[in-house]
Amino acid sequence: MKNKALWMLVVVWGIACLCGSHGCREQERIALLALNATLDLIYWMDIEGSYFNCCSWEGVECNPTIGRVTQLRLSSLRYNRFGSNTWYLNASLLLPFKELKSLELSENYLGGLSQLEVLDLSSNFLDHYIISVLGTIPSIRHLFLQDSNLSGTLHVNEVLDLSSNFLNHIILSVLNTIPSLWHLFLQDSNLSGTLHVNGLCNLIKLEELDLCINGITGGLPTCWRNMTSIRILNLANNEFTDSVASSPLTSLASLEFLSISGNHFNIPSSLGPLANHSRLKVLLLDDTKLTVDTKVASLIPRFQLKVFTMSNSLSKGFKVTFLGCLNHQYDLRMMDLSSNDIPGPFPTWLLENNTKLEMLIMRNNSFTTLEVPSMTRFNVPVMDISNNDIRGGLTTEFCANFPYLDHLNLSANRLEENIPSELGSIKSLYSLDLSRNNFSRGLPSQLLDSNSSLIDLKVAYNKLQGAIVLSNHTMNLNLSRLHLGYNMFTGDLSFLSSIVNLKLLDISNNSFIGKLPRLIANMSYLVVLDLSKNHLDGLIPQELFNLGELMYLDLSYNNLSGSLASSFISHWLSHIHLNGNKLNGTLAHVLSESFNLVTLDLSENEFSGSIPYWLGNLSELSILSLRGNCFIGTFPEQLCSLKGLSMIDLSKNNLFGPLPSCLGPMNFDSGGCATKVTSTPYYRVDAIDLSPWRYFNGEIPQEIAILQDMLMLNLSHNKLNEHIPMSLWNLTKIESIDLSYNNLIGSIPEELTQLNSLEIFNVSYNDLSGAIPNKNQFGAFDESSYYGNHLLCGLPLSDDCSKTINVNCSATKSCMKAKEDGWFSKIVQWPNNLGSLVLHFWIMAGLCFFSCPLWFLCTF
Ligand SMILES: *[C@@H]1O[C@H](CO)[C@@H](O)[C@H](O)[C@H]1NC(C)=O
Ligand SMILES: *[C@@H]1O[C@H](CO)[C@@H](O)[C@H](O)[C@H]1NC(C)=O
Ligand SMILES: *[C@@H]1O[C@H](CO)[C@@H](O)[C@H](O)[C@H]1NC(C)=O
Ligand SMILES: *[C@@H]1O[C@H](CO)[C@@H](O)[C@H](O)[C@H]1NC(C)=O
Ligand SMILES: *[C@@H]1O[C@H](CO)[C@@H](O)[C@H](O)[C@H]1NC(C)=O
Ligand SMILES: *[C@@H]1O[C@H](CO)[C@@H](O)[C@H](O)[C@H]1NC(C)=O
Ligand SMILES: *[C@@H]1O[C@H](CO)[C@@H](O)[C@H](O)[C@H]1NC(C)=O
Ligand SMILES: *[C@@H]1O[C@H](CO)[C@@H](O)[C@H](O)[C@H]1NC(C)=O
Ligand SMILES: *[C@@H]1O[C@H](CO)[C@@H](O)[C@H](O)[C@H]1NC(C)=O
Ligand SMILES: *[C@@H]1O[C@H](CO)[C@@H](O)[C@H](O)[C@H]1NC(C)=O
Ligand SMILES: *[C@@H]1O[C@H](CO)[C@@H](O)[C@H](O)[C@H]1NC(C)=O
Repeated sequence: MKNKALWMLVVVWGIACLCGSHGCREQERIALLALNATLDLIYWMDIEGSYFNCCSWEGVECNPTIGRVTQLRLSSLRYNRFGSNTWYLNASLLLPFKELKSLELSENYLGGLSQLEVLDLSSNFLDHYIISVLGTIPSIRHLFLQDSNLSGTLHVNEVLDLSSNFLNHIILSVLNTIPSLWHLFLQDSNLSGTLHVNGLCNLIKLEELDLCINGITGGLPTCWRNMTSIRILNLANNEFTDSVASSPLTSLASLEFLSISGNHFNIPSSLGPLANHSRLKVLLLDDTKLTVDTKVASLIPRFQLKVFTMSNSLSKGFKVTFLGCLNHQYDLRMMDLSSNDIPGPFPTWLLENNTKLEMLIMRNNSFTTLEVPSMTRFNVPVMDISNNDIRGGLTTEFCANFPYLDHLNLSANRLEENIPSELGSIKSLYSLDLSRNNFSRGLPSQLLDSNSSLIDLKVAYNKLQGAIVLSNHTMNLNLSRLHLGYNMFTGDLSFLSSIVNLKLLDISNNSFIGKLPRLIANMSYLVVLDLSKNHLDGLIPQELFNLGELMYLDLSYNNLSGSLASSFISHWLSHIHLNGNKLNGTLAHVLSESFNLVTLDLSENEFSGSIPYWLGNLSELSILSLRGNCFIGTFPEQLCSLKGLSMIDLSKNNLFGPLPSCLGPMNFDSGGCATKVTSTPYYRVDAIDLSPWRYFNGEIPQEIAILQDMLMLNLSHNKLNEHIPMSLWNLTKIESIDLSYNNLIGSIPEELTQLNSLEIFNVSYNDLSGAIPNKNQFGAFDESSYYGNHLLCGLPLSDDCSKTINVNCSATKSCMKAKEDGWFSKIVQWPNNLGSLVLHFWIMAGLCFFSCPLWFLCTF
């Protein structure tokens, strides 16, 4: 192994320059092509006319004088194409590039030479890029680099970016041999363990060190006290455990940026240990736990922070005033104290002190009031105080206090009364979220009219009411997203004619009335349109389906009528919900071109005709519900080609014919449903609902059991008349099986008791016989699961198995007739109501006697 690696490196390094003539050297061009071929690089385009000049290729930089490659950018090449699978770089492919100064390999999920354990490169003359290659060989346990002339080969201001690879700890000791490093990026590199052995102690010139998103544990090495040049230190999202007060962090007086978010540092709330870092501008302390230390609350820090974040870091009941240092900050631009459960009034003083604040994030605390001294104006443009406990009204004054807001989020509080119309006159305001409050009365038209700058307006989940009326002359071209859902708005939709540039319109769950205005069809930017759960009536304007951008259309639960236009061309539509209306007509070719359709819910309408065969061409279809219409005919075989289907509900129609066995995996290349049955990993059906399916020839297809991810199976109200297939026990995730109202015979397979997720099991009103399995969760099902099977016995039924049963009793089939007539089932329920065993017995016997000529075959 050792010899081979040596051979590879030494030989190729030894090759002298085979000089090309101009532009790019032929030898290097060939090497690049080889690299390209192995890496399957997608970005290295053969830019037209530059095939021979590799220096002009994407990701390649040359020294123009000597025409040799000096820089290769190979970052992020593999990620999108192959996901996060480790891959292996053949290091010798890089050897031809003798003048290479910079090699970027970050975000490639580099693996390495998987078998290599010992690599001896001592006494060679290595170029610096070997360092980055070495780090990608995770199997190396012993690495020898003595006398390799490494130090000095990296220029002092060299940058080494190895982030987002799968490195092993050995890289740290390798890097430790390059004391000239200034900037080192090792984020997201799968480093783990402590830094005690490989502490990067030699890297005292480091100015920037990024170790975030690794699994490093333990404390910071004490030798870091010598890293006195460090300005930017990012240790976020590791497992460091250290006390900030005694850690080397206190010595790093040059720090300008420090992130210790997402670790287990012990941080005193006064931030006293960092108080002498006068250059500190950015301090990130999210997702960590501060401990209260009031002693040094009066301590005046020497830093003036520009960015301070501390979300989800305070324990319950913590007051902002415990953060002594905040009293002395007046230069903050961005502050995030979200998710800290801070009680009491909103700390307006923070705003007063920090007049340059650009972004204030205070969401998910327990602030109760938002009182601002009158006549004070704050410059802050972005404010998020959502998800607090703020009560009372939003005053007119509030709008005067914040004249420069451009983004205001007050959602999920307890604000009430009216929404002040003055919000509409804040010229800079483009995003306003007041949803999930208790605002009542009307929506001020000032928020919607042409003077408003709003692009985003959310007022959903309030108690707003009344009609929305806009002047006929206003034309608001700004508003792009409007959420009015879950209020009590009334009136018609004519206001939409003034806001025609909407991309998103959600007015669901209101009481809007009238027809769908034709002008909706002119709103050509619409992507999401949700008008569900209103009282809209009339026809659906035909042009609606021709909106070029529309992806989500929900018109469900209105009173819309008429049929769907045949010229329904909606290439991008992926979700259509028209359920719960009075739509009729056939589906002929209505959606046959909507190849991106994922959800199609046309249930509870009056559609008729056959189930269209073209549904089988909608290869993305995942949810299909045609329940509760007047469709007739059989199950079209074409549906068998829908590989992504997870829910299909065709119940409550007039369908008949055999249940297609392709309800199995449906993995068919060419049409035929019943030919090939294999399970495919990407195919899953969560739920099948085919009740009632007029199924004449009887059995539940065995293949159904291959749908192992199925959660719900409903075959009730059919005419299934064979045994319950044992193979159902393959449906290991199934939660609900409903086989009621069929003519199933035989016993309940004992195997079904192994379905651990089963919560609902209904085989009532069949002709099942024998003992009811009682193991596992079958012990929990009550009588209602088994009603109307007069030959079933055992718990929870009151029939004792010792009295009953010849399971082969052929009378069962003949009793069917009576059951179909309906009164059988009613009688069978009596005994439970009356609690009379005897009556039950005799009614059953009598029933069989009168309705079944073969009753004497029954052995009670
Ligand atoms: C690099 O590889 C890709 C994918 O294999 C190929 O499409 C491209 O043409 C290659 N580039 C060059 C310059 O050969
Ligand atoms: C690495 O690349 C060199 C030169 O192209 C080749 O000879 C060698 O076989 C490759 N090694 C592996 C393990 O693919
Ligand atoms: C070692 O590296 C330095 C700096 O790059 C270089 O000047 C020197 O020639 C190298 N030594 C040898 C023996 O190649
Ligand atoms: C990340 O490191 C752990 C050990 O620390 C190792 O088990 C795991 O395989 C590594 N992941 C990758 C993708 O190399
Ligand atoms: C800091 O560096 C000096 C000399 O370079 C060394 O003697 C000392 O031990 C180092 N301190 C730590 C804590 O490693
Ligand atoms: C900060 O500096 C002062 C005096 O310069 C010193 O007394 C104090 O101990 C220092 N604090 C820390 C945490 O180093
Ligand atoms: C900041 O606000 C606090 C509390 O209101 C106050 O005591 C302090 O003097 C203010 N600091 C500055 C610099 O304005
Ligand atoms: C809200 O804050 C609490 C801590 O106070 C946290 O546990 C929770 O995850 C936060 N919720 C959200 C939605 O951020
Ligand atoms: C807008 O114009 C329509 C007719 O074009 C009229 O019925 C309606 O009353 C007008 N609405 C307002 C607010 O002026
Ligand atoms: C559809 O319903 C409308 C009334 O809403 C009726 O006039 C029309 O005849 C119906 N069409 C079909 C095909 O049933
Ligand atoms: C049950 O699942 C197994 C795989 O877990 C499969 O081999 C077998 O064919 C399935 N049985 C039936 C009846 O589908």
